[in-house]
Parts: sequence; C-alpha cells; structure tokens
Amino acid sequence: MSTLVIGGTGTTGGLLANLLPDARIGTRKPLRDNHVRFDWEVLATYGSALEGVDRVYLIPPLGVVDPVPVVESFLARARQVRRVVLLSSSAVPESATGMGALPALVRTMPGWAVLRPSWFMQNFTGDHVVAAGVRDGEIVTATGDGRVAFVDAADIAAVAARALTDPVPHNTDHVITGPQALSYADAAAIITEVTGRPVRHRSVSTGELAERLAASLPGEFAAILAGLDEDIRGGAEDRVTSTVEDVTGRPARSFRDFVSRTSIG
Ligand SMILES: NC(=O)c1ccc[n+]([C@@H]2O[C@H](COP(=O)([O-])OP(=O)(O)OC[C@H]3O[C@@H](n4cnc5c(N)ncnc54)[C@H](OP(=O)(O)O)[C@@H]3O)[C@@H](O)[C@H]2O)c1
Repeated sequence: MSTLVIGGTGTTGGLLANLLPDARIGTRKPLRDNHVRFDWEVLATYGSALEGVDRVYLIPPLGVVDPVPVVESFLARARQVRRVVLLSSSAVPESATGMGALPALVRTMPGWAVLRPSWFMQNFTGDHVVAAGVRDGEIVTATGDGRVAFVDAADIAAVAARALTDPVPHNTDHVITGPQALSYADAAAIITEVTGRPVRHRSVSTGELAERLAASLPGEFAAILAGLDEDIRGGAEDRVTSTVEDVTGRPARSFRDFVSRTSIG
C-alpha cells in the first residue's frame, strides 16, 4: 500500500513526498514514475489515483468557494484508506459549508489529522505577493502591527509525515506555528539585517489592500485575502504552539534561519 500525496508537486506536498518512500504524487500533469494523474475537477481520476492507497495527504481544491461536494465524492471512493491528513489553515475556522466544513468530513475516516498551519515562511519566496513586496523593497499588507508566527513548510511536512505514518493515528487538530510571532515590520527588518537588502513594511486599510490585490486576483478572492490580514491586525495569529517539537522531536525553524538559508524575494 502507498500514500497518495495530493498537491505533491506543491510547497508542503513536495517536501512531504521527499519524506515518504512510498509516496504517490497526485498531479494534473504526471511526468515521473511516482506520479499519478489526479485532478479535483475530473471525477474519473479519483479511482485510479486511489488504487493501492491506504493513506492520503489531502490538499483541498484551491480557489473553490465550496470544496465540500468534491471532497465528499473523493472520500466516498476511498474505502480502503485508513488515514487522511488534511491541510487546513489556522486562519480557517470550523463552519457548516466551505473550507471550514472539511475537517468534519475527514474526522469520519478511521484515522485522521487536521493540520492548521499559520502563514508560511515560503510566502516570502517565489510568486507570492509578499515575495513581490520583498523584491520591490516594500511589503504592503493590511496587518498593522499584528504578529504572525510564520512557519516553515518543511516543518509542516514533518508533522504531516508523522501524522501519516505513526503507528497510532493522531486523530486531532494540529495548530502548527514557527517559534516566534513577528509583525511584517519585524520580518522586513530581519530580511534587511540578514541579506543587506533594504525592505520595509507599509500597512494600508483592508479596503485598499483588497483593491490592490484585485488587480491580479478575482475580486471576491482579493476581499477574502484582505480580510485575513485584518484578522492578523486583530491578533488572530499572535500565538506560538509547540506542535512541531511535540510531534517531530525537534524545534520549529526560526524565520531568521529560514532567511539565512533561502533565496528570499
Ligand atoms: N500560504 C500560506 O501561508 C498558507 C497558510 C495556511 C494554509 N495554507 C493552505 O495551503 C494550501 C496550499 O498548499 P501548498 O502551499 O502546499 O500548495 P501549493 O504550493 O499552492 O501547490 C498547489 C498544489 O495543488 C495542486 N493542484 C492545483 N489544482 C489542482 C486540481 N484541480 N486538482 C489536483 N491538484 C491540484 C497542484 O498540483 P499540479 O499543478 O501538479 O496539478 C500543486 O501541487 C491551501 O489550501 C492554503 O489554504 C497556506
């Protein structure tokens, strides 16, 4: 039997697949031997992706307002699956519909874990809007002085690997954070100090941020993202958990260490 890693070509799934010798990577564009075609939008791909699989790392369909129907269809076909680890988010509260309804579906499986990571350190790299800000020398958010305990996706993957392979299923929600809550101004100062590149943070209103984001994203999605910044401003992410150390036995990586060893921006 093997583990189906949905999103195995992405940030957390890619790191997780490296930790699991039996990983089968679900992707819309299979290119390698351990890839299998999987597309949330194509029901016909579910059955073959699940063949010989008894564990699943589940990244829900992205950018879908209500992912419940497709995830329900998928889990209904996952009869031989003994364990599902869902990637949710610390910013998504439990709800009757939408993303917040997925944990309840996963909890019906024989073994499960719901991962609730805080914001990823990887947002400061690659295509993310925060990384674009680093490149411009100015990160623009609506977070004010609110703090976030940014977490390394590698630590999320390490927790996921344990949740999938520990002999006893965790059957719990894991709120996963880095070791220190930082404002975006703190993060910018660390980047400047470590890399020598001047980067600052400018906080704008939620409405202004939504407008800025709407230049490159659908308006509804832009408003949701700006709203999450408002939550940060209100202190929603200002907490540190010991989950990484409790589950993996080693401490969570610090933002400073991440910046020192990663190509930021
Ligand atoms: N960024 C943050 O700060 C943060 C914080 C907390 C939680 N999260 C959550 O993290 C999740 C994203 O995880 P990630 O960053 O590890 O992934 P990611 O790097 O954004 O990669 C997305 C993955 O999804 C796959 N994918 C996209 N559309 C698909 C479809 N229709 N069917 C099947 N697979 C599809 C892609 O695979 P292919 O292209 O190969 O098909 C890719 O591997 C989101 O749900 C977000 O809510 C993010």
